[in-house]
Amino acid sequence: MEAPGTVGELTQTLRQGGYLADRGLATALFVGLSLHRPVLLEGEVGVGKTEVAKVLASVLGRTLIRLQCYEGIDTNQALYEWDYARQMLHIRALSEHQVAEPDAVDQLFGPKFLLERPLLAAVRAGDRAVLLIDEIDRADDEFEAFLLEVLSDFQVSIPEIGTVRAERPPLVVLTSNRTRELHDALKRRCLYHWIGYPPAEREVEIVLIKEPGVAAALARKVVAAVRRLRELDLAKPPGVAETIDWARTLDFLGQTDLHAGNARDTLGAVVKDRDDLEVVRDNLQEITSGA
Ligand SMILES: Nc1ncnc2c1ncn2[C@@H]1O[C@H](COP(=O)(O)OP(=O)(O)OP(=O)(O)O)[C@@H](O)[C@H]1O
Ligand SMILES: [Mg+2]
Repeated sequence: MEAPGTVGELTQTLRQGGYLADRGLATALFVGLSLHRPVLLEGEVGVGKTEVAKVLASVLGRTLIRLQCYEGIDTNQALYEWDYARQMLHIRALSEHQVAEPDAVDQLFGPKFLLERPLLAAVRAGDRAVLLIDEIDRADDEFEAFLLEVLSDFQVSIPEIGTVRAERPPLVVLTSNRTRELHDALKRRCLYHWIGYPPAEREVEIVLIKEPGVAAALARKVVAAVRRLRELDLAKPPGVAETIDWARTLDFLGQTDLHAGNARDTLGAVVKDRDDLEVVRDNLQEITSGA
């Protein structure tokens, strides 16, 4: 589809895709799209960092290409690899049949044996894709430096094949949970946006947009309770994902109200740490005491 012409239009489009973005987030994405700048999203756990990239791809009619980062990820897994197994088979076939095509060796390092990984796929797809580089903070320093290089020119050189370049770069969304600080150089290249917990009314709206069957009154009670949970000093404070989950669980069990009793029974939807459970159980009355 046509790229949205204003921040308001983008907000509306995202909403149609089931994502409620606040003005700041929508602006960052709009500018990123228009000026071809990567957007770096940091924030608490479960506040919609990954989801916004997915929804954006879907509402813009673009392919979502996802690079999930983890400790030890390297360029082979991110960019491209040679398909060794098939190369070996090919060599075997060549020798068995005594074929000696003049370019047999060149063919071995040709497109047929190249395994495309997310970054190469994204460079090839250009602006027909949204590239999600998820949880970049989990990758190590060298990988971050390498990413920076790819992000600066959207160009990949494969010695045996040549250079692949994106005419128009994809929209790049990076996410981080801040398990470590990212380098200034990477940040400088990106538009930065922090996603915090949404205000109560918006969170209620998010629950209702995701779970339209849930009664509004229940959604409000759940959101109020989750906000109290976030004020406690929990090891794993609940994100928006947990709010949605809790409301869905209660609704599934036929509950239309939240109180200490049904909260206790369904805590597993929202509190996922043993020590946290103990803290929360002792305070259920207060936590569920109304919106
Ligand atoms: N503003 C929002 N609009 C619609 N849905 C939202 C919003 N914020 C969060 N969600 C929902 O919350 C859930 C969690 O979102 P997501 O997985 O994107 O979080 P995250 O920030 O990537 O979390 P993590 O840090 O654990 O990776 C998703 O199901 C998503 O639909
Ligand atoms: Mg995520």
